[in-house]
Amino acid sequence: MKAMMIDHFGGSGEFYVGDAPIVEPAADEVLVRAAYASVNPADWKCRAGLLPLLAHAGFPMIVGMDCAGVVERVGSDVVDFKSGDRVISLSGVSRGKPGTYAEFSTAPQQRVAHVPAHLTIEEAATIPIAAASAASSIIDVAKVKSGDTVFLNGGSGSVGTFGIQFLRHLGARVAATCSTRNLDYVRGLGTDLVIDYTREDIATALRAWAPDGVDSVIDAVGQNSLPADTPALIKGGGILVCIQNLLTGPDAFNLDLAAKRNVRVVDNVVEARTPDSSNFQVSAFRQLLAAIDTGVIKVPPYEIMSLEDVARAQDKVEDGHVRGKILLKIAEV
Ligand SMILES: NC(=O)c1ccc[n+]([C@@H]2O[C@H](COP(=O)([O-])OP(=O)(O)OC[C@H]3O[C@@H](n4cnc5c(N)ncnc54)[C@H](OP(=O)(O)O)[C@@H]3O)[C@@H](O)[C@H]2O)c1
Repeated sequence: MKAMMIDHFGGSGEFYVGDAPIVEPAADEVLVRAAYASVNPADWKCRAGLLPLLAHAGFPMIVGMDCAGVVERVGSDVVDFKSGDRVISLSGVSRGKPGTYAEFSTAPQQRVAHVPAHLTIEEAATIPIAAASAASSIIDVAKVKSGDTVFLNGGSGSVGTFGIQFLRHLGARVAATCSTRNLDYVRGLGTDLVIDYTREDIATALRAWAPDGVDSVIDAVGQNSLPADTPALIKGGGILVCIQNLLTGPDAFNLDLAAKRNVRVVDNVVEARTPDSSNFQVSAFRQLLAAIDTGVIKVPPYEIMSLEDVARAQDKVEDGHVRGKILLKIAEV
């Protein structure tokens, strides 16, 4: 099968069009024939050797953590999917299986879901990793409930787009950041307070909006985009969730201040880890997917590029200012 592969960690120039064997699905796995893979920020970090999980997978390596397409065939224990079903996949990379920048990939059945009936496959391809990360950070880690005040840093990215809508769906009040060109977009997601991080002081805006502090901060940007004393903006007993970005972590914040205020500062992946990696983020993901199914949550805007154009696509994502998603078109299915 055709796949975009690398033989070394490095820059986006490492990619080449390769011919890889199709990996047969194990008893509990689904083999997906991909129409689109999405480009997640983790993908360029994986290509650069920053993702320890995949750094052990060996070369030649197929990068990519999710896709949308149709079921080709299923393992003997799989009952919920059959050949021809339209599906989205969180991939099998957490099991050490090859990634999704390829015509075929496998995933444990828990990490596969049917495409919501009202969506095209390309629309659905925007969903998997971004929605799973947003939902798990909100439900498993921050444990957000109706009436909570939540600040989400990075409202216009794919995690932010799903996160804001899911928070509103759960009944939370939401503040979020973006740059000037994305103000209307982020407001349109239902955000109660939109902060232009290029022009406003985030702490001042948040203090005016939530004088007693917010219940949770979800940081989907990292890289010191928030002040180290952000825990001072959070109520005692509250939480700051750093969505794992592999560049900076919870220690970018003043942890002594957090401890004094009884605020927890955590990494979403470490905090939500499950004994069986196949179940990681899955329950929360399915709750968000149910809201997409009913039409309450909309998918982000997206740009389609060809699989062979992966280097340019990853460079754009690495630049950090994509609104919504970039999808790689793999095949008509
Ligand atoms: N561990 C997990 O479970 C997991 C899963 C998925 C993603 N992630 C991580 O979560 C992060 C977000 O992922 P994503 O897919 O949402 O990324 P993304 O879609 O590439 O995010 C790009 C967006 O970030 C915004 N942005 C850039 N700098 C900002 C700043 N200083 N303040 C506010 N917004 C800013 C940009 O908006 P402007 O153009 O307006 O600046 C752009 O719309 C990444 O670091 C990714 O690696 C982790």
